[in-house]
Amino acid sequence: MFHLRGVDTDVVIDESTGVPTIVYWGAPLGDIDPSSIVQALARPVQPGSLDTVAPLSVLPEHGAGFQGRPGLTGSRQGGRHWSPRFELARATQLVTGVHVEAIDPIAQLRLDCVITLGDALSVRCTLTNEGATRYLLHALHPTLPLPAHAVELLTFDGRWTREFHPVRREWGSGVFLSENRAGRTSHEHMPLLYAGSGGFGEWHGEVWGVHLAWSGNHALHAEAMPDGRRYVQAGELLHPGELCLEPGQSYTAPTVLGTYGCGLTPASWGYHRYARHQQTRQQSPRPVLLNTWEAVYFHHDMDRLKGLASTAAALGVERFVLDDGWFGSRRDDTSGLGDWEVSAAVYPDGLTPLIEHVRGLGMEFGIWVEPEMVNPDSDLYRAHPEWALTTDGYEPVLARNQLVLDLANEGAFQHVFGQLDALLRDHDVQYVKWDMNRAHTQGSGSRGAAGSHFQTLAFYRLLDALRAAHSTVEFESCSSGGGRIDLEVLRRAERVWTSDCNDALERQTIQRGASMLIPPELMGAHIGPTRSHTTGRVHSLAFRALTAMFGHLGVEWNVLDLGDSERAQLAEAIALHQRFRDLLHSGDTVRFDPVLNGQEAASHAHGVYSRDRREALVAHVQLASGMSLLPPPLRLPGLDPAASYRIDQVPLPGAQAVWQHSGIELTGTQLAHHGLQLPRLHPESGLLLHLTAI
Ligand code: DGJ
Repeated sequence: MFHLRGVDTDVVIDESTGVPTIVYWGAPLGDIDPSSIVQALARPVQPGSLDTVAPLSVLPEHGAGFQGRPGLTGSRQGGRHWSPRFELARATQLVTGVHVEAIDPIAQLRLDCVITLGDALSVRCTLTNEGATRYLLHALHPTLPLPAHAVELLTFDGRWTREFHPVRREWGSGVFLSENRAGRTSHEHMPLLYAGSGGFGEWHGEVWGVHLAWSGNHALHAEAMPDGRRYVQAGELLHPGELCLEPGQSYTAPTVLGTYGCGLTPASWGYHRYARHQQTRQQSPRPVLLNTWEAVYFHHDMDRLKGLASTAAALGVERFVLDDGWFGSRRDDTSGLGDWEVSAAVYPDGLTPLIEHVRGLGMEFGIWVEPEMVNPDSDLYRAHPEWALTTDGYEPVLARNQLVLDLANEGAFQHVFGQLDALLRDHDVQYVKWDMNRAHTQGSGSRGAAGSHFQTLAFYRLLDALRAAHSTVEFESCSSGGGRIDLEVLRRAERVWTSDCNDALERQTIQRGASMLIPPELMGAHIGPTRSHTTGRVHSLAFRALTAMFGHLGVEWNVLDLGDSERAQLAEAIALHQRFRDLLHSGDTVRFDPVLNGQEAASHAHGVYSRDRREALVAHVQLASGMSLLPPPLRLPGLDPAASYRIDQVPLPGAQAVWQHSGIELTGTQLAHHGLQLPRLHPESGLLLHLTAI
């Protein structure tokens, strides 16, 4: 038995089951004999059941009698070896975990399971075909057990411009299944769920999180079995015949990451810790950027862009990002993808004059690319139609007039690498916004089988190769907004583009959901135009700034069009973020449960506490007009109970300070229990509170 101890979490593993079994995952247990858990939880055989109770191992086995969904499915020719049963070969203690090797001498398969408990619980399984014939792998889905009292699920629904919408549901019995075939992490099916004890909230109830760190197709399966046991399985979704293991070949399933905490807020810190520790080149402080997309779209014009850059620099912007439209024949979204050469028509002297202008203003220069794609109307496609990820004989389904490029094809890979490498070598670029704007459909690789698995690996390989060749460049993961946000891509990206929606009201929910996986400094958040381009809503600058400042701040707005007072307010908003960004980007994200009164939440609050709990920044947001005249008092659990805090309202640009209690001093205990009465606010506005321990 192996007893792993993490941050406020213990995990106990029984390796004797062959495929290891996590027999405990939850609150710290202290000094115990781990085998007493197995004894205490041993299940008696029941009438009407099999004569043995199959373990709920990390890859539960149908062959051992497991009646739920097996963790490994596959077969050899003729359907043989479809139901393997493994025995323990060796278990080796690692610094933070265990490596269990298990074999099935009959099916001639071998498993390597590495389970560690660091920032998060990590389960990584590798299957090797040790037989003399091909093994057709259908699924290798690591499985995490949940206790009987985890009876509620929190999952995330989404679509383009509306990512990460939390959905709570009771989980009495049966299966919750979420399947993603988009070939990217997807807007629609976040590979993330939380299960918790009944009525769990941000600061109460036990909560377990499960995330699949993978940017391709996936399935999440949560099952409450008729025998009373519960589990979540997370793994790559493979199309029929997509993956064959030839003799000697291995497949490593995407890593499954688990987190545990008392309340959703502390539970999500496990993922934040993990994501932060993966960051190796992220600059600090995070430079405020201006992105040209909603400012100019495809209308690139040197003088206009230089003007935009000069105005941005004067506002306090530190990085200028040139979005789509600078290359090939890309004057709109019908052509040019794949031709990563500067358009001579738009930039007769190349990009260097613009870059020098930007650098001369003291800003970094960033550039947009979409390396995995090709427009049929492009030089690349005309030269290499065979490099598209399509299926011979069928008319391909286009999306945004484009096709996916088969990066698992070495010729295509080297071509794209060569072009992007040259772009970064020939220009003074500090930042790349890497976009990916369509889902896979009927995309076959060179063997004729589905190509999403190898494409996902090739995407990682291409990004890794470019990062290795350009070791100081930062990368952003964008996919029509938040279509590729996961903790595997974030091992190779310094930021995600959270959503194409810059509407501050929509963003309140999107960012709240995203904060259940990623910390603020990785979450791209922009102050967009006064009238949102994706919803048509009009919001004050104060509300847009209050919303965007809780991420990695950017501006995506034609700042050339602003009047003097609006410009001054925008500069104020940027300075406000800069004043607090050390706290925002290093502290613990906190969310507070809204008071529901049987209705949709009219307001909500969130913030960041410094790690030492000496400082905090909290936003209260009026989402809609509620039934009660005043919002409920804001209670702030999780501060230092013994400390006294001074609480000040921070004025937002262009808005009046309306909180009558600004300057009040209260203890952490008081803030947790009776809280602070807030003023009446207009819908779609908010206020910012700064807490400092005295
Ligand atoms: C989708 C992205 O999410 C946008 O921010 C922008 O970069 C466009 N693509 C450009 O085509």
